[in-house]
Amino acid sequence: MSPLITTEDIAFDAEHIWHPYSRAHCLTSQSMALFPVVGAQGVYLHINDGRRVIDGMSSWWCMVHGYNHPQMNAALKQQVDQFSHVMFGGLTHKPAIDLARKLLAMTPMHSVFFADSGSVSVEVAIKMAMQFWIARNQPEKNKIVTIKGGYYGDTTGCMSVCDPDNGMHHWFTGIVPEHFFVPRPQCRFNDQFAEQHMEHLRQMLEHNGHQLAGVIVEPVVQGAGGMYFYSPQFLVRLRQLCNDYDVLLIHDEIATGFGRTGKLFACEHAGVVPDIMCVGKALTGGYLTLAATLCSREVSRTVSEHSPFMHGPTFMANPLACAAGNASLEILARGDWQQQLPMIESALREGLMPCTEMAAVADVRVLGAIGVVEMRQPVDMATIQPLFVDAGVWVRPFGRLVYVMPPYIISQQELAALCRGICSVLHRLYG
Ligand SMILES: Cc1ncc(COP(=O)(O)O)c(C=O)c1O
Repeated sequence: MSPLITTEDIAFDAEHIWHPYSRAHCLTSQSMALFPVVGAQGVYLHINDGRRVIDGMSSWWCMVHGYNHPQMNAALKQQVDQFSHVMFGGLTHKPAIDLARKLLAMTPMHSVFFADSGSVSVEVAIKMAMQFWIARNQPEKNKIVTIKGGYYGDTTGCMSVCDPDNGMHHWFTGIVPEHFFVPRPQCRFNDQFAEQHMEHLRQMLEHNGHQLAGVIVEPVVQGAGGMYFYSPQFLVRLRQLCNDYDVLLIHDEIATGFGRTGKLFACEHAGVVPDIMCVGKALTGGYLTLAATLCSREVSRTVSEHSPFMHGPTFMANPLACAAGNASLEILARGDWQQQLPMIESALREGLMPCTEMAAVADVRVLGAIGVVEMRQPVDMATIQPLFVDAGVWVRPFGRLVYVMPPYIISQQELAALCRGICSVLHRLYG
């Protein structure tokens, strides 16, 4: 356990430290409560006041093997005793080479660019698509098209393809680059797919293909943009349309990758291969920040024959992060997640479905290790968050979405407790 956090610490935090999507200089009583964590083990977060809660969020979807995993810990300790960081310009190292080998063995891609976060890997993907067309002597192909309701990260390039209505466009109009949007696919994951579902996209590609570098989508599951599950058939047709109109296909698997939807990668639901693929989050089992932009041989060869690829962050392929990545992928390769995922899916379905009986609930849906209770109205975070903690669960809703993405190591009993916690709080507030 780390040292206990004092009330002075909390006051300092409130005055001086920004948290995600928050205000600084705020007494916590005026804003959201902050829950100080002093330890974490397995699926549990230990809070300052002695309570422990089941982490339903996997710390924003990345701690897939749980906290304090012995193999992850050992891998990092071993690497720290060798070297923690070296620049990647002009130097290379075994952790990066091993991790690239593993990534390319588990995906149909050819080259790896290590980035320091999911957002950066999306920036890199967009840049890569643009450099691809510069190399092909078609620099006018520099726009991106995407489907509404997406979330790709918070940096400027990412914001430009995030949902135009609920994303941050209105804050930064005229600053973020302007790209193209079509409505999100109307066919849900299990719906019958019809060709009409492609019509917006087909028209977009037909009219604008000459200025499009690529199409970016989160395959099958739109995450932070709405926890929306759509038909894999859409991805199949999207792949064909990208070929027909000579546009690169970028899959953002940062949230969906490494088993979250029940397949190792979400694109496997559709059996399609993108030209560029972003991975992050669970890549390091959540231990350290690392992401990667993978691409086909055609993309890396075309770009590289023309010019260097213009990106190279200070912490590129950080050896500690790569060591965590290697350990995380070794744990995944053992395959326990493949037994766990169906159990998690059915336990979430069983545990969350009773919520459909509440008038305040619009929909309950589950795919792989993702369970979503969609409310009719946005929840009041300041009210609901402490109630979840009182119920022994860490769940952090946004907007109308109360959702969970637990670590893959969670047991059936812990899943039942997680779902009971959610249902009881929703009943208390809306039942
Ligand atoms: C699909 C997707 N892409 C990109 C990102 C951005 O990743 P990061 O927060 O590591 O920058 C996220 C984060 O939630 C995501 O869900």
